[in-house]
Amino acid sequence: MRKGRPQGSPFARSEECISMKLWQGRLGGDVDERLDRLNKSIGFDARMYKQDITGSIAHARMLGKIGVLTEEEKEAIVAGLQGILADIDAGKLQIDMSCEDIHTFVEGELTRRIGQPGKKLHTARSRNDQVALDLRLYLADEIEATRARCKAVVETLCDVAEKHLHTVMPGYTHLQRAQPVTLAHHLMAYAQMLLRDRERLAECRARTLVSPLGSGALAGTGYPLDRQYVAEQLHMNGVSENSLDAVADRDFVLELLADFAILMAHLSRFAEEICLWCSWEFRFMALDDRFSTGSSIMPQKKNPDLAELIRGKAGRVYGSLTTLLTAVKGLPLAYNKDLQEDKEAVFDALDTVNLCLDVLPPMLQTATFFPERMRAAAAAGFLNATDCADYLVSKGVPFRDAYAISGQLVRLCVERGETLDTLPLEEYRKVHPAFGEDVYPFIDLSNCVSKRKVHGGPAPEAVQAQIETARKALVSER
Ligand code: ARG
Repeated sequence: MRKGRPQGSPFARSEECISMKLWQGRLGGDVDERLDRLNKSIGFDARMYKQDITGSIAHARMLGKIGVLTEEEKEAIVAGLQGILADIDAGKLQIDMSCEDIHTFVEGELTRRIGQPGKKLHTARSRNDQVALDLRLYLADEIEATRARCKAVVETLCDVAEKHLHTVMPGYTHLQRAQPVTLAHHLMAYAQMLLRDRERLAECRARTLVSPLGSGALAGTGYPLDRQYVAEQLHMNGVSENSLDAVADRDFVLELLADFAILMAHLSRFAEEICLWCSWEFRFMALDDRFSTGSSIMPQKKNPDLAELIRGKAGRVYGSLTTLLTAVKGLPLAYNKDLQEDKEAVFDALDTVNLCLDVLPPMLQTATFFPERMRAAAAAGFLNATDCADYLVSKGVPFRDAYAISGQLVRLCVERGETLDTLPLEEYRKVHPAFGEDVYPFIDLSNCVSKRKVHGGPAPEAVQAQIETARKALVSER
């Protein structure tokens, strides 16, 4: 029994597993309690139990196939592992948190259940290739779940956008009103970003699904392993080519963290706009009360805390990427324990990304948008000044001259407290004789939007086409 184990621990404990360290042959006696606390990873790697067991089943079947295990031994191991998995899933078996890691727990529990054959499972395998396999399988499963969440956000954006194809709002550059767009067009910009995030995740998943098993601790093994057979059983895309690389690198984790960082950059920009739009300065939208918070002192407050948290959590995910980049930097080949740091970093990022993605669909579905406020902001901002110049171009005036004339008219409007839509025609004519009555429909905001039919533009039919393409992308990509 380990010394100094905290009493009254809520976790079960299987004598077989923790009564001895895996490596007790070489080292004598109990290790220091402080080493144990720093060293053990079961607190965070327990979540990979399913992948650890599935990987072991594939390994055992392969050892049976090549004759390293007898048929009976293989059957006993497979059945034992399946029983452990079923019992953990059913809540009948608790993972013993006093074990060093999930691999130790599963192997110990197997031997406790089936005896001798259990001790043969680890033949031709090291925890170094095992943990790389487990993490690859675990992340591949999780990537699919995160991609499904991205899909739900994109679907929501498409649905909300479809209701606002004609909702004119200011488009901004430098956070200054620039040209008119629609709410649909603006929302679909984020849908495009998320579609690329989904694509990046799929590509990362394909590179993640490469089996390192057979690399051993670092130098492969003398057993005639059928590595391909293991990969096939686990629905992986192939096997690694270099045993040192396979146990030492974590670029698949780094790539995922980088993808998450980009995804969070996108979400944080959207979140920032939601904060702005909910402010009384903008008042373009209001969040449902269920997705807002109040203040403990200011009775009038309704705060977009969720959007702020999404914005804030981006920093946390960037932190995880930096953590792992720093952990692998300068590491000599092959496995070093520093690599154990990969899991907490990527699990935290994964949980954070999922939390943020989960809140967006209901938050957007229940939000109220204020089209009249958006239109008023668009009307007051001289967003049609470019179109006013384009009007003159249509009358044969060179664009550079038309640009200057339109600027002059804007200045005049500002002085007179008018907009281009209300400025009398005689004022227009004083500046240039080419202006006629038809300038008013030409610079009408809805017109300014609807004529921008170019592929990717804000015209309602162009955005409708964009929505359809986005929906198709969501269905076609598995
Ligand atoms: N918990 C370890 C990790 O996450 C498993 C590999 C242990 N290997 C070793 N040589 N100590 O990396």
